[in-house]
Amino acid sequence: MYVCLCHAITDSQIKAAVSLGDSSLADVKKRLGVADQCGKCARMANQIIQTQLEYE
Ligand code: FES
Repeated sequence: MYVCLCHAITDSQIKAAVSLGDSSLADVKKRLGVADQCGKCARMANQIIQTQLEYE
């Protein structure tokens, strides 16, 4: 599912970024650009990151 509409970034891409070592929204923002425009996706992206970190 799309999380960031500004950049067409999906939850799968965010989870993959965590698997590659990203551990914060700042990390994923740097890698994918998530939440760097309107910012509306920041909360959901952060939730996905935190949930994924529990599985790593
Ligand atoms: Fe992600 Fe706008 S929806 S920056």
